[in-house]
Amino acid sequence: MTTRLLQEARTYEETFEKNIKREERPDFHLSPRVGWMNDPNGFSFYEGEYHLFYQYYPYDSHWGLMHWGHAVSRDLLHWKYLPAALAPDEAYDKDGCFSGSAITLPDGRHLLLYTGVAKETLEDGSVCDVQRQCIATGDGLNYEKYAGNPVLTEKDLPAGCSRIDFRDPKVWQGNDGRYYAVIGNRPADGSGQVLLFQSLDGFDWKFLKVLCPNQGRYGKMWECPDFFELDKKQVLLVSPQDMLPQGFEYHNGNGTVCIIGSYDDASKSFQEEHNQAIDYGIDFYAPQTVLSPDGRRIMIGWLQNWDACNPSTVQASWFGQMSLPRELSVKNGRLYQHPIRELENLHQNEVRYTDVTFTDTLQLSGIRGRKIDMTLSLRPVDDSNVYQKFALRFAQDGNYHTAVSFRPHESILKIDRKFSGSRRAVIHQRRSLVRHQNGRIKLRLILDRFSAELFVNDGEQVLSATIYTDQMAEGISFFSNGLVNMDVVKYDLV
Ligand code: FRU
Repeated sequence: MTTRLLQEARTYEETFEKNIKREERPDFHLSPRVGWMNDPNGFSFYEGEYHLFYQYYPYDSHWGLMHWGHAVSRDLLHWKYLPAALAPDEAYDKDGCFSGSAITLPDGRHLLLYTGVAKETLEDGSVCDVQRQCIATGDGLNYEKYAGNPVLTEKDLPAGCSRIDFRDPKVWQGNDGRYYAVIGNRPADGSGQVLLFQSLDGFDWKFLKVLCPNQGRYGKMWECPDFFELDKKQVLLVSPQDMLPQGFEYHNGNGTVCIIGSYDDASKSFQEEHNQAIDYGIDFYAPQTVLSPDGRRIMIGWLQNWDACNPSTVQASWFGQMSLPRELSVKNGRLYQHPIRELENLHQNEVRYTDVTFTDTLQLSGIRGRKIDMTLSLRPVDDSNVYQKFALRFAQDGNYHTAVSFRPHESILKIDRKFSGSRRAVIHQRRSLVRHQNGRIKLRLILDRFSAELFVNDGEQVLSATIYTDQMAEGISFFSNGLVNMDVVKYDLV
């Protein structure tokens, strides 16, 4: 049944998406059909296609009453919008259909498990959000909310667990055929934790245990958990709010954390071994993964930072975009991210330079563009006299540029968008420690009109940032303080 609220959203998006020209939005990164987008939701492979839902407020380019937008794709790069899937049209989700995930039931239905938010007025007159887990099932186009909603409430939680911060279920089917879900929550100490739940049929859920406590280590509330096996290790992804910085690893504000360890399925215990940031740039949050039919673990994140939203002073009819889908692997205990291989099908107009030796500034014929995939391999000319600083400038013209710079003597890589056209006092740069052998480093930059994603050393680290620079600024230039030797391979992404 399509309710009035859902029908309104569907009519609105169909009418107003027409105001957004193709070239005014990212090309192969998913952006909202119209209005506002945040977290990826319900990332799944269903009936021969990838489905990606998203936190959605169609009526404005700012966060509002949350709906679920919906798009499908066969290659995760060419997206087709479907009508909005969920609207906040029930008493238990009247204040928002928050983040969640999807699985396929044995009878072929697609099940969405999401957080329903309903404000409650307390005895002292104050108002709080109560968060409960809810279900909708459907056929990949239309979804019906389950009559038994909500399926998990404060009554299912152990003492001390917050009912105000209880959200973002990620569901999967275990090897034992049962369904499991990890959900973000806060214990009495105000820190964060990931709770584990179980269900035999996907509808009737029960609490199992605290899978991973934060204990004040990484920020406060842990949002949008994901939990999966990868390369014989177990990986927990979480997005903590209100982080304090830790060296160059974690930054202030909302961040992303990857904890790698081992998992004992019998006792459901997760042993932590290693932790790291998922993305070391400015804009990346709330990632969610899917297992592709050919066995790849693919992650997509919201290419945005809550503290730097709506930095553009030019009012567009859309705001928010997804990251490039990234293939994940674990090597030597670290998370690696690789742009999905389907991106190579978009490669055109190869331009290649090998062994270019230079100092000061350099421009290379054919190296420009705002929708490109470019790999640089850098090395010193003289190992006993390594260059001081290398910089790559892109989205450049007489007024604007965004820069990536690398200082081998400090092992620091920096992304800086302060000259990208931003007129806002938000974060414009991030620095990260990187690995290199005496100035030898590999950088792969992917641009898609309004974003830059930089993959370091074949996916060892990624730095992502949005840029709202005028599309006419498509120049690229190189700079080096000291002699550097460089290979460049560049493709247009068409
Ligand atoms: C993360 C988040 C989620 C929540 C959603 C609301 O970005 O805060 O925890 O479900 O956004 O839109």
